[in-house]
Amino acid sequence: MLPPAKSTLAGETDALFTFINVSSFIFILSITTAMLYFAWRFRRKSDDEVTPVISHNNLLEITWSVIPLILVIIVFSWGYTTYMKKISPPSDAYEIRVVGKSWLWEFHYANGNVSINELHVPADRPVKLVMSSEDVIHSFYVPDFRVKKDVLPNRYSSVWFEATEEGESTIYCTEYCGTAHSDMLATVFVHSQDDFADWLETSGDSGEDLPPEERGEVLVEQNACLTCHSTDGSSLTGPTFQGSWGSEVSLENGETVEFDENYVRESILEPNAKVHEGYQPVMPAYAGTLDDREIDAIIEYIKTLD
Ligand code: CUA
Repeated sequence: MLPPAKSTLAGETDALFTFINVSSFIFILSITTAMLYFAWRFRRKSDDEVTPVISHNNLLEITWSVIPLILVIIVFSWGYTTYMKKISPPSDAYEIRVVGKSWLWEFHYANGNVSINELHVPADRPVKLVMSSEDVIHSFYVPDFRVKKDVLPNRYSSVWFEATEEGESTIYCTEYCGTAHSDMLATVFVHSQDDFADWLETSGDSGEDLPPEERGEVLVEQNACLTCHSTDGSSLTGPTFQGSWGSEVSLENGETVEFDENYVRESILEPNAKVHEGYQPVMPAYAGTLDDREIDAIIEYIKTLD
């Protein structure tokens, strides 16, 4: 019933989970059965029957105190040692910065690469994530690795894991963070150490050799713009890109502005400066994420969506 266990500490976590579940089940079953049996066995059979007074039974009371005490001590010490392992990353862990924004995950690697909604990690090597939020509280959760931790504004939190097999796992946001909370999904790609090194090497270029409008299409996909902006005219959390180029945009403050290069650029870098009428000011800022060439490519792509 549990998701596949794909990290070094997942097995230990599951074992404790199973221990607590199975022992709870055994006790619920045996206590309930005993209760029902006693209720039937010692039921009142006639009106003149008198129940003898029993004040206490030392042996019985010690037994039902000591057994739960031992079980609680086992669960505590087991939980404590596993928890300590989970919050203490090995000193040689590979570090990746994670930024949560409404509603996407950004991953920054040591060599300056950034990936959005895709976390790439090597297998069989501890990875430490140093996480923060740019807006509200999010929570980083990978069921397959059995790791979950809140991602907070103005404070760093961290998790670590060591993936044991290559493949893909889903990352969820598990703290309700607004309209598109349930779309705040990402994927962990676990590579062999060599493939990971290759990925780091080559991923830096986001299609620089493509024609601008094609590069723009790739960037719009990579940067999770499509979570909120459609390209087919439908209205999601944000306005559609289709037919937007050159149109007059009514703003929340009652002004109108032309949908041109300046408007797109400003809206990417500082989304809340001019908010489209009828939409919430919820877009994350891409200043520091997209550079000028990339913004130009996105502009070229939007121009093609008429
Ligand atoms: Cu981010 Cu829910």
